[in-house]
Amino acid sequence: MEGLVMKTCEGPVNIAVIKYWGKRNDELILPMNDSLSVTLHVDHLRSRTTIACSPVFKEDEFWLNGKPFPINERMRTCIEEAKKHISEEKKELSKYKLRICSENNFATAAGLASSAAGFACLVYCLAQVYGIDEKVVDLTILARRGSGSACRSIYGGFVWWQKGTSDDGHDSKAVQVASEARWPELRAVILVVSHKQKDVSSKDGMKRSRETSQLLHFRSKQIVQQRIESMIKAINAKDFDAFAEITMKESNQFHAVALDTFPPCFYMNDVSRNVIDLVNKYNAYKVDMGSSTRYSAAYTFDAGPNACIYLQDKDLSEFLSIIVSSFPSIEKEYVRGLPVEVVSSSVDIFPKHAPGALDYIICTKVGPGPRVIESDHLLNPDGSFKV
Ligand code: DP6
Repeated sequence: MEGLVMKTCEGPVNIAVIKYWGKRNDELILPMNDSLSVTLHVDHLRSRTTIACSPVFKEDEFWLNGKPFPINERMRTCIEEAKKHISEEKKELSKYKLRICSENNFATAAGLASSAAGFACLVYCLAQVYGIDEKVVDLTILARRGSGSACRSIYGGFVWWQKGTSDDGHDSKAVQVASEARWPELRAVILVVSHKQKDVSSKDGMKRSRETSQLLHFRSKQIVQQRIESMIKAINAKDFDAFAEITMKESNQFHAVALDTFPPCFYMNDVSRNVIDLVNKYNAYKVDMGSSTRYSAAYTFDAGPNACIYLQDKDLSEFLSIIVSSFPSIEKEYVRGLPVEVVSSSVDIFPKHAPGALDYIICTKVGPGPRVIESDHLLNPDGSFKV
């Protein structure tokens, strides 16, 4: 079609090890504290977005996971902000309407960081369509306007969102602490506890926490900065013990804040607590077996019941075998993502739960940032939606 521009990109999920919770400015999405995350591999968990722009389109339209949705305020902000940075030779495109089609290959809004991958992908794709120069424009600042945690999905590896101090948010941006090549042995196992949409969104939950939780204010002023420094040291030194301890304490403190919120937010459920128990037992078992480290696995939970377990490649097969025997499933494709050998576990110190407590398991590793895809567009070549 004459004048049609179309780009497709994929964006990764990130899971925070130092949690973002609480905004000092809701509209600009400025956080109360810094946070730090690990970007997971786009091969296993990703958002994909195709954006087309054409003089014949009559209105902006958006489809998510095969269904039409209105363009919400945060998406509108990302689009308008991106248009401000359009390159000179593409200026004409800013007048054209957009068709945006996105899909996630994982549960949306069930605490699996879908908004982070989605908005990072949207902004990265807009940057491709509008020819935005990444050397001049910080895409993490644009992505932040869509969803705070999205700014961290603009980079691969280990990413630090610096809260910044200015009122206009120009210094609230993400930077890469280390690339995925820094710690290639690190693995992440996602235990999908429930497909259910969460009850209180992060946006509403963190607003309520800021208004009612003294613990949140204490944490953001007195605790987080020190933990960020220790976490950066741990990553650079590939010190799994330090990494694991901070990760688990951060998850615990975030959920303590959720409980300290009034009325409280319950994000974890009984299965989540059983997972924590299993990780603790696994760590103790490894020490008994002569492990040189205090921890071999570390759990973290976001605003939902699903667990993310960080561990090292050497323990992956053993740990998964234990998980599969402790949380049996009737699903054929129970373990997805990275191929891993799962054997029937001979260690019987772990409790056996009823089959079906976990929906499925995704194994992945640290991965790169967003990327352009040359094929597999989600729109037809003429820019129409695939129905
Ligand atoms: C618990 O980025 O989803 O996952 O900025 O309102 O879109 P908004 O919130 P969002 O919050 C994520 C919170 C978290 C912790 C984290 O990822 O750091």
